[in-house]
Amino acid sequence: MRIFYVIIAIVILSGCGNGQKESTKNEETGYDLMKQNCYICHMPESQENMIAPPLFRVKEHYLPVYKTEKEFVDAIAKWAKNPSEDIALMPGALRKFSAMPAQYHIADDTIRIIAKYIFENEMEKPVWFDSLHTDMQSGNMMEGGKIELKDGKKIDVSDDVLNAMNEVRNIVSNFNGKSVEDYNKLGKDVFDKAKIILLDKNNKGETWDNLHKYFNSMEETMHNLISAKTTLEAKPLKNKLKKQIDKFYYYFE
Ligand code: HEC
Repeated sequence: MRIFYVIIAIVILSGCGNGQKESTKNEETGYDLMKQNCYICHMPESQENMIAPPLFRVKEHYLPVYKTEKEFVDAIAKWAKNPSEDIALMPGALRKFSAMPAQYHIADDTIRIIAKYIFENEMEKPVWFDSLHTDMQSGNMMEGGKIELKDGKKIDVSDDVLNAMNEVRNIVSNFNGKSVEDYNKLGKDVFDKAKIILLDKNNKGETWDNLHKYFNSMEETMHNLISAKTTLEAKPLKNKLKKQIDKFYYYFE
């Protein structure tokens, strides 16, 4: 009988102790669930067998746009259940890889735990990815590096692309917003135009690769502008973006 009480006591005591450990336990679960459900596609062993962008890249695209934990978790949960072009933040990945299948089999709660884990923790970067960082300084980073002009000849693009880029240039040149939210929106507007160009199926092959490289080179500036917290921070980013947009005409015609 006494043994019975001792067991009860242990159970009750360990039950109490658990409350304190709750957060680490959740993190372990979040990591495990992410590994089980997402890594199969999102943690590539090498560049050659990459079938989806690594999750640290996904996070880099989501965090500037979905700043609070709730927005972030909602956005990932929405995507995982119903991936679609109109909400995609990685148009380059959408074109390069096949579309992510909707994760119907995963419970909503599970996806939210995973998304929370992604929000709160640094995502592992595959080791080989660093070797792809060519020249961060000049903004030519990752996925493909610099645009090489063959014999100095510019790359032909369609009128649609040229018109869209002219619009982008005008949006940025004529910008006279005052608040930081105006600057954030400017970043998003430029991103949305880039998305249309990258998703346009008429742009393909080497032309598309080069457009993708081009937009990757200004991705960081767009993200920083979208997430800027003060106009002081945003103004130089806008000027940088303007220069990067002018560079388009150096590579494309
Ligand atoms: C069967 C493979 C596969 C699995 C499993 C998978 N993904 Fe994906 N995911 C992809 C591919 C491929 C892309 C890039 C193409 C696209 O955007 O559809 C992608 C893109 C994404 C994006 C970025 C979409 C955008 O453009 O905005 C998010 C966010 C994402 N996945 C989250 C997850 C999470 C979270 C899990 C685990 C619950 C998961 N994925 C599991 C294949 C997968």
